[in-house]
Amino acid sequence: MVGGGEGAYIGNIHRIASRLDGAWDLVAGAFDVDPEKGRAFALSQGLNEDRAYGDYKALIAGEASREDRVDAVAICTPNFTHYPIAKALIEAGFDVICEKPLTATLDDAVALEKLARESGRFVGVTYTYSGYPMIHEARVRIANGEIGKIRTVQVEYPLEWMATAIEAEGNAQAAWRTDPTKNGRGGSIGDIGTHAYHLAGFVTGLELESLTADIATFVEGRALDDNAHVMIRYKGGARGLLWSSQVAIGNSNGIRLRVFGDKGSFQWFQEQPNDLVFQPLGGRVQLIKRGSDELSADAQVRMRTPPGHPEGYLEAFANIYSGFAEAIRARSAGRAPGPLGQNVPLAYDGLKGVAFVEAVVDSASSESPVWLTPIAV
Ligand code: NAI
Repeated sequence: MVGGGEGAYIGNIHRIASRLDGAWDLVAGAFDVDPEKGRAFALSQGLNEDRAYGDYKALIAGEASREDRVDAVAICTPNFTHYPIAKALIEAGFDVICEKPLTATLDDAVALEKLARESGRFVGVTYTYSGYPMIHEARVRIANGEIGKIRTVQVEYPLEWMATAIEAEGNAQAAWRTDPTKNGRGGSIGDIGTHAYHLAGFVTGLELESLTADIATFVEGRALDDNAHVMIRYKGGARGLLWSSQVAIGNSNGIRLRVFGDKGSFQWFQEQPNDLVFQPLGGRVQLIKRGSDELSADAQVRMRTPPGHPEGYLEAFANIYSGFAEAIRARSAGRAPGPLGQNVPLAYDGLKGVAFVEAVVDSASSESPVWLTPIAV
């Protein structure tokens, strides 16, 4: 692992999720931008001293020469560092698991996706929400035509944690997220809009055609948007509406997806992730519950406990990690991946996310509303 040291947010989630199914073991790391803190943290995690590295270059040098070198490296650092770290790892022959957004700039995303494709290295992107079993259930049912032809997709990701200028009060996570040189050009849209955009496309299979956007910065002095509204036209005629906000008071992690077809609709809310709401046209509301025997194989393979024993965020993240492990094992064995290793988010999905963010910011920066087509679609 690179990044994710003492006090960091997502690194610990990676450590728990990667090991939940026993698919991964954490054996080496350069956990902190401060080499000494990073090494101390590695020792606190039970890593051997010779694999407690001061920075990612030392990690690459150290691991490249070992017979038991790591299989893959997870990048859990701020956005602007993803590209140089991933590039160096791929060039040294390592598979990569990278946090979203894939990179802070579109140029870097294009270059990284090309490098991943041409090198044949595995580059997975941790779009967390696509790991939920009920999201896979919705995906399968939509593909099977259960709600008919999709008309509109409503997806939102509201948070409240940046409703005040916490970046000026020493909050490390908010500080880099509001710095365009570290975060990239899209504030809320880059940080969480990318999750919402990926989730909507993942569940529906719809491909974006063009978009028009309005972004706003409500907290005084903040350099990036903290609220974004995006209207989407999908190929084939469906429409979408995406809202991301870091200042939506009352929302802890309110990612919500609603898909409306000409025969019915599905709704899913990540704070109640075990339930998928199905409404057939003119029929009764149906609650499809995680754990039920009626679920698709794609959902079943991503569940661990029977109904009534809730699964959540950590298990969804674990599904992503175990899926990456299966994809990598399948590649090594020269076979097709099993269900868990299929449809995992890869570098191209990451590139599409960054292209989406850039198009949103470009559209919103225009004098009058303009429909733009991101380069990667
Ligand atoms: P953070 O600020 O809490 O932690 C960043 C960590 O990276 C710190 O330990 C820092 O010392 C370390 N670091 C920075 N530069 C480094 C370098 N060059 N080498 C080694 N370590 C370095 O950040 P947070 O919130 O954990 O976000 C990290 C990444 O994860 C971001 O790209 C963010 O967008 C993504 N993220 C993804 C989430 C998801 O749901 N998939 C949720 C939260 C964050």
